Amino acid sequence: MTEESAHDGPSESAFATDGSGEGVVRRDRFSGGPARSFLSSLEADERIFEADLEVDRAHVLMLAEQGIVDDDVAGQILTALDAIEVDGHGSLPDGEDVHEAIETAVIERIGEDGGKMHTARSRNDEVATCIRYRLREDVLSAIETTLALRESLIEVAEDNRETIMPGYTHLQPAQPTTVAHWALSYEGAVRRDTARLLEAYGRINRSPLGAAAFAGTTFDIDRERTAELLGFEDVVENSMDASSSRDFLLETIQALSTHATTLSGLAEDVVIFANRGFVDLDDDYSSTSSIMPQKKNPDTLELVRAVAGDAAGAVQGLTTTLKGLPRAYNRDLQRATTHAWETVDAVTEASEVAAGAVATADWNEDLLAEEAGEGFSTATGVADLLAANGLPFRTAHELVAEAAENGADYDALEAAAEDVLGEPLESLVDPEAVEDALDPAESVASRDSQGGPAPDAVADQLEAARVALSTDRDDFEETSEALEAAHDVLREEVNDYV
Ligand code: ARG
Repeated sequence: MTEESAHDGPSESAFATDGSGEGVVRRDRFSGGPARSFLSSLEADERIFEADLEVDRAHVLMLAEQGIVDDDVAGQILTALDAIEVDGHGSLPDGEDVHEAIETAVIERIGEDGGKMHTARSRNDEVATCIRYRLREDVLSAIETTLALRESLIEVAEDNRETIMPGYTHLQPAQPTTVAHWALSYEGAVRRDTARLLEAYGRINRSPLGAAAFAGTTFDIDRERTAELLGFEDVVENSMDASSSRDFLLETIQALSTHATTLSGLAEDVVIFANRGFVDLDDDYSSTSSIMPQKKNPDTLELVRAVAGDAAGAVQGLTTTLKGLPRAYNRDLQRATTHAWETVDAVTEASEVAAGAVATADWNEDLLAEEAGEGFSTATGVADLLAANGLPFRTAHELVAEAAENGADYDALEAAAEDVLGEPLESLVDPEAVEDALDPAESVASRDSQGGPAPDAVADQLEAARVALSTDRDDFEETSEALEAAHDVLREEVNDYV
């Protein structure tokens, strides 16, 4: 019933501010009680203060253009909004939320006519529009950090095409690979994270404004005009859907949570590599111990790893809040929004830190090369070689497994050949080829299948990564510019009135 309260007729006594600091919009019907601060989102709404002013401006402009509000009144409201912006969120009068507080502030400045700004809308469509408006900027920042991270990973790959390193499965030495191949494995994952965020952006970028409480309005509004003024690509058509749906929030934090999960794997790898001495983190991305003077710890990456937990928790929290909510607006939605702000901030920061840590880390090439053959990691290559020379792969696997148990070298392979095949290894394969297969660098160079770690195969992956990065960058720039252009147009339109 609170929406109706904003449309109550004038009541002089309630209209005057009484010095209690309470807003005037809701008049005397709901002056607040013990639950007032529980109800209020005013503090958290600082995040959408600027957005709300922009939404107010677009709405008032449209009301004037449609002849619903006089140009003169529109001008007064728009002037008041500018002054309120200068004073800042902290100077707003008390209110249940930023929407109410701004309207109160406008009325305080220009009198009763200020209330005309809330014609043909409700806080329900207003807040949904503000969240989308602000979230666009935040998601763009998140997208930008994924691009920076991809750039860092591409550079690491570029510099380390031939830096041999051990590759693991089950955290056990598995097959030698290169630092470039490792870096590009994360670049591919982050590329998909960017794509998911760009897709989420497309669905955020729709205007719910003009849906009013949920049931539309009798006024002859122009929803497409406000959408255009706010830089939205289109409107959310159905007014009940527009004011009540928050799947755009869920989709966004799911995409962010997926990115955080990618980051957590990357962070974990680097923590392990740092532990082995494979990589040396820059001091800027390390921390020390307050008691153990020799310590250099990868704390930043441990925190990056932890953000995935927070993000997954937010997805769970938001899903649980939204699950089973009836149409149309319910106040539960007020608590839905904070999950998005917290997640987008934490994940963007984690992504930025991961990009910096990766870009500035030093790879210990000598140690990596030394360890690349650890745990008989060239065994698969040897089995492949035997199979390429006619042995069934399963038999080759058995032969090499036996050699692995008995010394994991050429001699052990010879002995195993005698044992498993009953004939010398040389009768099956050129000894030099076996020695090559046992060499980690040769082993890597020979795995040149599409997407493999051989420098040639990595060169193709690098090229594809660069092309994809430049395409996504163009997309990002274009989207950011469209937002800025819309902002400028709105300002020019407002300037005609103030
Ligand atoms: N502050 C609310 C929110 O964040 C918007 C207000 C809508 N309130 C209402 N009673 N209909 O969702």
